[in-house]
Formats: sequence, C-alpha cells, structure tokens
Amino acid sequence: MSTEVQQRGTFGRLGFILAAAGSAIGLGNIWKFPYIAYENQGGSFVLVYLAAILLIGAPIMLAEIVIGRRTQQSPVGAFLVLAKGVAGGKLWSLLGWLGIGSGFVILSYYSIIAGWTVYYFGRCLGWAMNGFTAADAANLGSSFGSFLANPEMQLTFHALFMVATVGVVMMGVKAGIERTTFILMPILAVILVILVVNSFRSPGFGEAIHFLFHIGPISASGVLEAVGHSFFTLSLGMGAMITYGSYVSRKDSIPKAGLTICFLDTLIALMASTIMFSIIFAVPVAERADTFQRSATILFTTLPRMFFALPGGGVLSPVFYLLVAFAALTSTISLLEVVVSYFIDRRGWGRKKAAFIVGAGIYLFGVPSALSLGYSEALGRVAIGSREGFFTVVDYLASNWMLPIGGLGISIFTGWFLAGRIAREELEEGHGPFPLFAVWRFLLRFVCPLAILWIIVFVLRGGAF
Ligand code: PHE
Repeated sequence: MSTEVQQRGTFGRLGFILAAAGSAIGLGNIWKFPYIAYENQGGSFVLVYLAAILLIGAPIMLAEIVIGRRTQQSPVGAFLVLAKGVAGGKLWSLLGWLGIGSGFVILSYYSIIAGWTVYYFGRCLGWAMNGFTAADAANLGSSFGSFLANPEMQLTFHALFMVATVGVVMMGVKAGIERTTFILMPILAVILVILVVNSFRSPGFGEAIHFLFHIGPISASGVLEAVGHSFFTLSLGMGAMITYGSYVSRKDSIPKAGLTICFLDTLIALMASTIMFSIIFAVPVAERADTFQRSATILFTTLPRMFFALPGGGVLSPVFYLLVAFAALTSTISLLEVVVSYFIDRRGWGRKKAAFIVGAGIYLFGVPSALSLGYSEALGRVAIGSREGFFTVVDYLASNWMLPIGGLGISIFTGWFLAGRIAREELEEGHGPFPLFAVWRFLLRFVCPLAILWIIVFVLRGGAF
C-alpha cells in the first residue's frame, strides 16, 4: 500500500478545498438552483435546501472524504478495501460501479449545457461590441430554440467542452486539476462579488431578497426536490468526493475541509440566485409572464436581455457567461476524474490514455442527448413517464435514481458497517478531537438513510424532484 500511496498524486492543503469546492460549484448552483428555487416559490424551499445541506449533505460529504483518504483509492477499490471482513463483502464495491456510471452519465449531458455557456459568452461578446438591438432582445427565445435544434452547433460546443475537460484531467492531479482550480476559483469569486455588488443597484434587488428568504408555502415535492438537489450540488452520491478525498494529505483536517466546501457551495448558490433574481425582478410585473414561462432556460433566453437593459450590462454579460463556463469546467473535471481514476487504479492504464478513451466514450454517449433537444424528433420522443427527450430522461435517471441510491449506500455503509474507530481516526487525523463525532454518526445512521429512502419511495410512486 505504501508504494501505491507514493505513486498517487496529493493535493496541497488549499488545493483540495479549492478543487472540491470547484467540483461542487457548477451549473447546479448557477443554472439549476435559481430556477428550481423559482419553481418552488423561493422562501421555504431555500430554507429546506439549507437544512438538507446541513443535515444530509454535510455528513455524507465527510463520509465520502473519509472513505477516499482512508483507502487512497477511487470508489470501486475503496469499497473493496473497506468491505473486507464486513457483511456483504465485495458487493459494496457495486456502489463504486454505480458512481462510475453516474459520472459517465452526468458528464455526458452536463457538458452539453456547459457548452451553451461558452456559446453565450461568444454571443454576448458580439452584442457588447456590435450593439444589442431591440430585434436581438425580441428574438432571444427563438434564437435559443434554433441553437438547440442545430446539430452542428450542439455537437461542436459539446466537443469543445469535453476536449477542455479531457485536457485538464490528462495533466494530472497536481499539474492539471489543482493548478486549474487555483486559477479559476479566485477569478470566479471576484466576478461574483462584482455582480452581487452591481445587483444592489438593480430595482429588482429588494424583491429578489424577499423572494429568496421569506417564509411561504412549500409542497412535499418541493421538499424532496431540495433534498435531491443537495446531492447534485455538492457532487455527492457518486464518489466524486471519495476520489478527490483519496488525494487529500494526511495532515489535512477532513471536517474543516468538508464543511468549508458545503459553506462555499451554498454561498455561491445564494449569490447566483441574488444576481439572477435581481435582474429578473427589475422587469415590471406586467412584462414578466414570458420570463417565467421558461424558467429552466432563463439563463439563456432572458438573462441577456436583462443584462443589456442594465447600466454596464454589456460588459458584465460576457463576463458572467465566462464565469459559468469556468464553474462548469471545475465540475466536469471531477466527473471525468471519477471514471478515469478507476482505469488508472484498477486497470493500470496511463492517465493520458484513460482520460482520452473515457472522454471519447462520454462524448459519444452525449450525442443522442445533444440531438434530442430539437434536431431529432425520434430522440426527442424517448420518454420515461412524463419526462420526454433523451436528454431529460438521462438527467432524470442520474439525479432521481443514481445519486440518491449512491448516497443511501454510502451513508449506510459508513454509518453502520465501517468501524466507528476507523471513521473517528480519519476525522481526527490532521484535525484533533472531533466533538461532533456522535452527531455525525447519528445523522449518517438515521437521518440520511431515512430521508433518502423517503425520496426513493416518493419517486417510485411517480413524483419528481
Ligand atoms: N456539483 C456539480 C454542480 O453543482 C455537479 C456535479 C455532480 C459534479 C456530481 C460532480 C459530481 O454543478
């Protein structure tokens, strides 16, 4: 084991927090959270989401990092090591396989949306230089629609994003992932702060804050959606944090790192929502209907118009899309790394070969998703229940099934099967005494599994979250 430990890359102290926060912060925060918060009427949904992060997300975050650092292995190998002599034995490694599958599937469509942000960066740059006309504003919805229906565009931007992701992962843990994140995360933070400060001046700011933080009604499906999203947004349930955790130095504190990541992820989601809603609520009430009809595509169909209506918006809009693309890249890197590290650790492949082959496979698997959004009617008709379109179906399977099942398995394994002594040792090494150990274990043993089971039962009965 010791030679293996030496061969593996290790993150520097800040490197892990930055890389893991980079994984967590992505389209889930900037694209998905604002629109599901809108669909669930903000307010209480945000509160439930915060509670889910604290009571379900945070304990599982620590559990994944514990598993990764303890074993110095990617998910499949990690469960094989820890499950020795434990009831169920090798079967636990199925959780690792599920994680590899989730990484593969999520990246295949995530990269498509990420590609859109690159495209909109270019478009906004064009508008900023050539002027944003009334006709441009009126055509935002239809031009987004024709962009979606254009197969060359979809496949090109999907390819672009996959190439960037593969390139970074090829360079390795230290030179690739850590260095990229070191450069990107501070830029991201600075741009967000500029945009939030800018939103103070927006006439929609007050209403945005009220919308996000008032106490209002919430449906059962809203509660479940908040819990499900806490997995997606923190990159949990598929071993991304096990994989990154395997690169954490023994001198680092797992509780501190894990909780910092949860805090930063939540902060960015709230900042992104404040920015988005300040822009959206700046529009007079009578003119909002169209905006809200397509809440899932607000980021592309409505935001550009809002930006260009604001003072300084011409400069801010390309910057904003660049930020979203950066945030997405630090997430796609982690999705690919989960799959790639399996081939490196368990199959003895070289990193470059693994990144290239896996990346190509994921790209190809994403093709039907990319074509299902307006180009191919047949792919657009693929459906599970009310969810139509290859893209939607694949997203549904990953977020409603694979991540929650993975999270359930990880919480049960760590809470009930992993020796408490081992868990405590990992949490305390590099940290010192961890007085919250009993609370952590209780959440992992009871609260997390029951909440997730509840989600699964709900989904089985036909709900969506
Ligand atoms: N957490 C990322 C986001 O919020 C998505 C992601 C999920 C990344 C799972 C890695 C693993 O966008």
